[in-house]
Amino acid sequence: MSTLAVYPGSFDPLTNGHVDIIARGARLFDRIVVAVAANAEKSPLFTTTERVEITRAVFAEMKNVEVDAFDGLLVDYVQRRQAQVIVRGLRAISDFEYEFQMALMNRRLKDTVETIFMMPAEQYSYISSRLIKEVFSLGGRVHGLVPDMVEERLRQKVTRR
Ligand code: PNS
Repeated sequence: MSTLAVYPGSFDPLTNGHVDIIARGARLFDRIVVAVAANAEKSPLFTTTERVEITRAVFAEMKNVEVDAFDGLLVDYVQRRQAQVIVRGLRAISDFEYEFQMALMNRRLKDTVETIFMMPAEQYSYISSRLIKEVFSLGGRVHGLVPDMVEERLRQKVTRR
């Protein structure tokens, strides 16, 4: 039986921490679906379509990585896809409480789905999409922390405003 994992998130925007987790997941599981949450944030910087398009472009060469969008409950999406595993990244202790709550709630909603936590490489352990947006919008350098395509798209967004 092949193992399908779902890596859900807002990805607004995709960071190199996400990229690192996806690459690790792609080595561990037969297939990994990056599931972009359509309505996780009230006013995202990038539309769902943009977030999917960027992630697809970044992983175009990795054949066992699929990128999709979902709305509604994550466990319903996981069940629809017949996946066995939810992957989440854990950066620091501060992530743990929120992740623990989500994992246990998801287990209560669907007992057969396991959540697996993976740690990104340490150089990405402090990066978050929220910090990237804040630093970039205030003129800070995010080079090396996000894929080049994300950096370019951030530049386009910010100059268009
Ligand atoms: O990248 P994020 O914002 O930390 O991802 C959070 C996400 C999208 C995984 C979470 O908000 C989610 O699962 N949303 C779908 C709705 C849902 O199932 N909520 C209950 C989670 S216990």
